[in-house]
Amino acid sequence: MKLLFYLSGEFEDLAAIEAETFLKMFDGESENIDTQMVIGKCSDEIVTCLYRFGLIHEASRHLFSCSSLDELKDGFESMEIPDGALCVRVRNIGKRRVDSLRLERELGRILWKKGAKISVSKPDHVLRVYISNRIHVGILLHETDRKQFLLRRPDLKPFFRPGAILPRLARSLVNIAGIKNGILLDPMCGTGTILVEAGLVDLDFLGIEAYKVIAKGCAINLRYYGLPANVVTGDVKSMGLGDESVDGIVTDFPYLQSTKSLGETHELYSLALQEFSRVMRGENRAIFLTNLDVDDLVNEHFKIEHKLYQRLHKSLTRRIYVCRKL
Ligand SMILES: C[S@@+](CC[C@H](N)C(=O)[O-])C[C@H]1O[C@@H](n2cnc3c(N)ncnc32)[C@H](O)[C@@H]1O
Repeated sequence: MKLLFYLSGEFEDLAAIEAETFLKMFDGESENIDTQMVIGKCSDEIVTCLYRFGLIHEASRHLFSCSSLDELKDGFESMEIPDGALCVRVRNIGKRRVDSLRLERELGRILWKKGAKISVSKPDHVLRVYISNRIHVGILLHETDRKQFLLRRPDLKPFFRPGAILPRLARSLVNIAGIKNGILLDPMCGTGTILVEAGLVDLDFLGIEAYKVIAKGCAINLRYYGLPANVVTGDVKSMGLGDESVDGIVTDFPYLQSTKSLGETHELYSLALQEFSRVMRGENRAIFLTNLDVDDLVNEHFKIEHKLYQRLHKSLTRRIYVCRKL
């Protein structure tokens, strides 16, 4: 099927990688991109995984794309009408602005004249019109419940430590790891934000954490969400895991201050990356967040597919490395 993904505007680059990962996972690829939109074909099986979305707000089954409002109306005139009650919803994206209420009424009237049943309050299908640089029309398949991520904010969890990443970012990174079924490892798991998101999309997971008290807290958080407490105390520099025993890695390195000796930092990254490569199966993805540029060390074991920057505050910019095993 051909899908339209409507992406978060806040982390658009990452959201686009997430959408492309889903398409690949289901034997497809992206065909087109537009502001906050990715369009691509993949197998129908993807509908079983839409609940996993992190930074993708919506997915719709693509009907057509066009350039102008006149073409949009023509498209509605010639559209095959789906069974059941319909409702038209217009979404303005980016800088382009149309009077969405008026357009919804106009398009609804076209369908009604063609014999469609229209119901605004209880539609069987929502026809989504995305006004991006071009105009894209689809039947809404899934809308991500964004409130769930706010409810899982780190400070609302039973065990809290400052510095935990936001759950919807963690969810997106888990998806970008590209694991359909398998084990995700977070070898510096802290309070377990990444593990919780992996567990909630039905992946198996394992956490490693250097400090016993934090590992215990992580276990409390996992149980709070009804997930197994798969977390052990250990050192990322020498993980007691077998070779090729996990399917992907998502982790967040400690944010090291310049007061730490360079030698110690170098050792942490160098040994951790070697371990990531050893414990990962196949050519899967390792994704890690850091405040440092460590391309040279990463290149020894991984191909850097994407490196993104997220400015957190004046003196802290997070780097997001999306890597594939060499
Ligand atoms: C930036 S925090 C991770 C935050 C985590 N993503 C969360 O949601 O809470 C980095 C974590 O790595 C742990 N850590 C530091 N050095 C480590 C090591 N050598 N092995 C394993 N964990 C380590 C720290 O104790 C800390 O909890």
